[in-house]
Amino acid sequence: MERIAIYPGSFDPVTNGHLDILERGLKLFDKIILAILTNPKKNFLFTLEQRIEMLEDSIKEFSNVKIDTFDGLTVDFAAQRKAQGILRGLRAMSDFEYEFQMALMNRRLNREVQTVFLMTGLRWIYTSSSIIKEAAQFGGNIKGMVPPIVEKKIKEKYAQRT
Ligand code: PNS
Repeated sequence: MERIAIYPGSFDPVTNGHLDILERGLKLFDKIILAILTNPKKNFLFTLEQRIEMLEDSIKEFSNVKIDTFDGLTVDFAAQRKAQGILRGLRAMSDFEYEFQMALMNRRLNREVQTVFLMTGLRWIYTSSSIIKEAAQFGGNIKGMVPPIVEKKIKEKYAQRT
């Protein structure tokens, strides 16, 4: 049986921390579907098209990874795609409460889908899309924390805004 996981997230934008989880997740699953949340009510910096473009460019070296979009419940999307797992990364303790709550709710909603957490690589422990955006907004150097295309697109985005 093919082992499929979805890796849901906002990916606004994708970071090297996400890619580390993805790469290691591929050792556990035959196929991983990057599931980008489209929820228009969320205040994303990048449009859906831009988030897809950056992800596509960043995952070129990985086989067995697909990009897809979803709205609504993650467990429903997982079931639609016949995925047995939901992959998520855990960084510092501060992630734990939110992730624990979400995993328990997801389990209650669908007991067939298992949430699998991977501890982030030590290098990425403080890397998050939000902190990267904040640093970049004020001209901070984010090289090495995000794929090159993201570094470029963030710079362009904030240059347009000033
Ligand atoms: O990268 P993020 O923003 O931390 O990802 C959050 C995401 C997309 C995984 C989460 O918001 C989510 O699953 N949203 C869909 C709605 C849902 O199923 N919520 C959890 C159970 S109520």
